[in-house]
Amino acid sequence: MLAFVKTFGCQLNVADGEKIKSQLVNIGYELTDIPEIADLILFNTCAVRENAENRVFGHIGRAKYFKERNKNLIIGLCGCMANEPETIEKLKAHYSCVDIIFGTSAISKLPEMLADIKKNKYNEEYFELNTETDEGLGQVRESKYKASVPIMYGCNNFCTYCIVPYVRGRERSREVGKILEEITELVSKGYKEIMLLGQNVNSYAYDFPLLLKKINDIQGDFWVRFMSSHPKDCSKELIDTVAECGKICKHIHLPVQSGSNDVLKRMNRNYTREKYFEIIDYAKKKIPEVAFTSDIIVGFPNETEEDFLNTLEVIEKVRYNNIYNFIYSKRSGTKAADYLDSITHKEKTERMARLIALQQKISLENNGLLVGKTVKVLVEENNIGRTEGMIMVELDKTIEEGNIVEVKITGQKSIYLKGEVI
Ligand code: 5AD
Ligand code: SF4
Repeated sequence: MLAFVKTFGCQLNVADGEKIKSQLVNIGYELTDIPEIADLILFNTCAVRENAENRVFGHIGRAKYFKERNKNLIIGLCGCMANEPETIEKLKAHYSCVDIIFGTSAISKLPEMLADIKKNKYNEEYFELNTETDEGLGQVRESKYKASVPIMYGCNNFCTYCIVPYVRGRERSREVGKILEEITELVSKGYKEIMLLGQNVNSYAYDFPLLLKKINDIQGDFWVRFMSSHPKDCSKELIDTVAECGKICKHIHLPVQSGSNDVLKRMNRNYTREKYFEIIDYAKKKIPEVAFTSDIIVGFPNETEEDFLNTLEVIEKVRYNNIYNFIYSKRSGTKAADYLDSITHKEKTERMARLIALQQKISLENNGLLVGKTVKVLVEENNIGRTEGMIMVELDKTIEEGNIVEVKITGQKSIYLKGEVI
């Protein structure tokens, strides 16, 4: 039996996809990349923006036709959309080809649901928000050298634009011991990049800096990243820890979302631009080589030109290596969905283009600063690798993937760097 699992959205969802695959392999499925030949097709979905949701409905529409050839084909939908009542209604009304729907709290129940599909078709379990941390589900990992390790789940912040608290439930953190055990095992198996994940990774309930120090003490040649951090919980102690610990990448993903205090307030972000600059300045002082990345939402309801210029100013001041930027997408059920919005889509896309142009210029300038320096690079394939700040480097020779090497940066070629392995 062949299973095709397609995951949309963030790294946490990717980790969930890996857990789902592990559940399937345990009950005898083989995994395939070809949906046409699969006996089971699962869409592990994302609900953060409308675009991603529409793509899922397109995929389901196509999968329906595979059923004509393979009557036993099972189609399932899971992930964040499966925790949205509106999506469930839409599926029930228009997508009867979908056989199972299960929320993020029900991954461990997948084998049971597959064994008894009829009974579970409209299982109400998916409405339940997860109140636990997944333990012991296993992950069929895509990469042999990069491993993601969720350390906390859910979100308590209710940013006014965001659906995540509604579909992923409240914050809960895994125990320190369980995390250390998992990472120790991954490192012993040869994993070289450990990515700690959480919707607000630094809101980890049991002392995040201390957890990082303990991970840093694990024997072995590996490095650690974490994402996403919420500025409201980005303490000086956390930055000091990143500065001190040799295995922690000198990279902080710190989504600012907007550079306007008025917009930040209406987003319910719980910090001001001044507070954000304070963190950035402290990090730059403590970690001279630090790299920042960010998430930014363009065109939040009634974002004025002045608000937007404030965002551009933050980008200029912080000088991010990279920004993940999104045009605001209205999510029903969230507070911002009720906000008035007089900005046209055209204005929003124009602002987006200006933001991208500015960021591209800064990325290139940042890259240029590394020319002549010696940096660590994790080799990803053949002669391509990435720095701690996630900048792509073309190496002068092929090295086995998963090795961390010292590289002298010799030049710059559009968005990437060129370097010689030392
Ligand atoms: N519209 C646009 N972007 C959003 N994000 C979250 N919700 C929305 C939305 N409704 C973005 C934020 C967040 C990232 C994961 O997705 O920037 O940090
Ligand atoms: Fe969404 Fe805000 Fe929570 Fe991030 S912190 S998941 S943006 S509500």
